[in-house]
Amino acid sequence: MPEPAKNPPAGTILPAAAAIGERGRPASEPTASDVGWWRTAVIYQIYIRSFADGNGDGFGDIAGIRGRLSYLAALGVDAIWITPWYASPNNDGGYDVRDYRAIADEYGDVRQAELLIEEAHQHGLRVILDVVPNHTSTEHPWFQAALASPPGSPQRARYHFRHGRGADGAIAPNDWRSTFGGSAWRRVTEADGRPGEWYLHLFDPTQADLNWSSTEVQQEYLDILRFWFDRGADGFRIDVATGLVKHPDYPDLGYREDDLLVLTDVPNHPHRDRDEVHAIYRGWRRLADEYEPPRVFVAEAWVADPQRLARYVEQAQLHTAFNFPFLQSGWQAEELFTVIDATLRSMALAGAPPTWVLSNHDVERTVTRYGRADTRKQQGRSGHELGPVDEALGRRRARAALMLMLALPGVAYLYQGEELGLPEHMDIPDERIQDPIWTRSGGRRRGRDGCRVPLPWTATPDDGAGFGSADPWLPQPAGWERLSVESRQRDPDSMYHLVTCALRLRRELDAPQELEWASRSRTVLRFRRGPEFECIVNFGAESVPVAADAAVLLRSDTSEATRDPLGPDTAAWLRRARP
Ligand code: GLC
Ligand code: CA
Repeated sequence: MPEPAKNPPAGTILPAAAAIGERGRPASEPTASDVGWWRTAVIYQIYIRSFADGNGDGFGDIAGIRGRLSYLAALGVDAIWITPWYASPNNDGGYDVRDYRAIADEYGDVRQAELLIEEAHQHGLRVILDVVPNHTSTEHPWFQAALASPPGSPQRARYHFRHGRGADGAIAPNDWRSTFGGSAWRRVTEADGRPGEWYLHLFDPTQADLNWSSTEVQQEYLDILRFWFDRGADGFRIDVATGLVKHPDYPDLGYREDDLLVLTDVPNHPHRDRDEVHAIYRGWRRLADEYEPPRVFVAEAWVADPQRLARYVEQAQLHTAFNFPFLQSGWQAEELFTVIDATLRSMALAGAPPTWVLSNHDVERTVTRYGRADTRKQQGRSGHELGPVDEALGRRRARAALMLMLALPGVAYLYQGEELGLPEHMDIPDERIQDPIWTRSGGRRRGRDGCRVPLPWTATPDDGAGFGSADPWLPQPAGWERLSVESRQRDPDSMYHLVTCALRLRRELDAPQELEWASRSRTVLRFRRGPEFECIVNFGAESVPVAADAAVLLRSDTSEATRDPLGPDTAAWLRRARP
């Protein structure tokens, strides 16, 4: 068992880097332990546009990532997930793909992508890419061909083209809404210049939904997966994994006039989580299993019911799925207990590892969210509209939440900047907002840019706090350099040191994958993994004493491993005496 964490000397990188030796094999040389790396991994999400800018043009890029691989290895993560880097008009942060086999000019090219994958492997890091199968950009050659072809043509059959309602077809085919606001249908102009059919776009109008009953669509995506697997990618995150199959009759959902948000809580939903989607993923699994080592998937599945979520990871289907109810929960012991317990049970039945995520490029940063009176994730809303933030409180809770997450069995995801404790940027000037939610909602919702601000790397403001360009694509808040990697590495009490310590301990402890609740109350969660490792989280206002027979390994409130009682919003990892 490892020693309790010591106060790391200022300015050092903790010895997680030492572990590279064991893990630092290219994925092309599998060993027995490779079989299940994805069952316990910590995966770091890179939002490429904002990670590091290698050539100073204001956009993060592949060169920027290649230059930071040793930072990621030293942090102690096992894998990186890179958000879409494909050729794209970038109307939705690259989730509008024009060509799945080409890299966007501002990010690099396929050769550089191959080199990045190779170098990541040399650093002991697996590489997960992001596949967007629900829709293509309207600039994709398939959609362009559909526009140029008549109604009823095979080119249109790859998407959802429908006649409108009403005598002249001027009413959208049904009442479905786009996640970003407004109708999910847009009418096209036919070759004769007259208004014609409508196409479905559940997101931006420049993201046209594909028709997954088309065998051509099915084949094409298998081929895209193969293209990147052949280039060494270890797996894929599947964007909008629940959305691919639509009800063949396109029934109305029953929106009311004032509904701004997408209705999800509808039985037999016509375009979310339909049973038929699983056949697609069984085919994807067969393909992933043809590779050595086998490639892996994680589904982006916003599904509230843990049993429905488990259906994505049952035998012969996807390996893992994001557990969003964990991210949506408020900072509250009972709510989190319910989610964790239900997750563990349903995933155990499905034979899949649980996954845990607190933060990503679509949701408000935890430091900000946990500093509010209502700490639950608010669908589609963020920033000042949600009320005042006590950032010190949010930071204390975010630290405890990270320790809770990293103590749980299974897979954990970290979103870039989470290790720095970055808050949401709530004051991006209106004219700089990029998220399509802003315009689609008529300026009622500011969208997700506040969690996508370019990362600060250095303690001086030069070059966008070391991001690599003085005027990055999204503006950074004043004083961003104080939250930079360099500043955080110098501060022994920083979130950065908490994360590196936790990741090192997590690896060294290698605790059994089962979890046993030791005790819980309305304000305290306490669980064990094996006889020795215990995690306590105090959500309440009263202090909680540390058991007399336990050694403190790490605590969220100070970098000293003291035995002081745990104050409010504090977590600790303990080593208990063997019974
Ligand atoms: C996923 C992505 C999000 C994107 C949407 C449409 O939810 O995470 O960023 O806007 O899909 O592709
Ligand atoms: Ca760049």
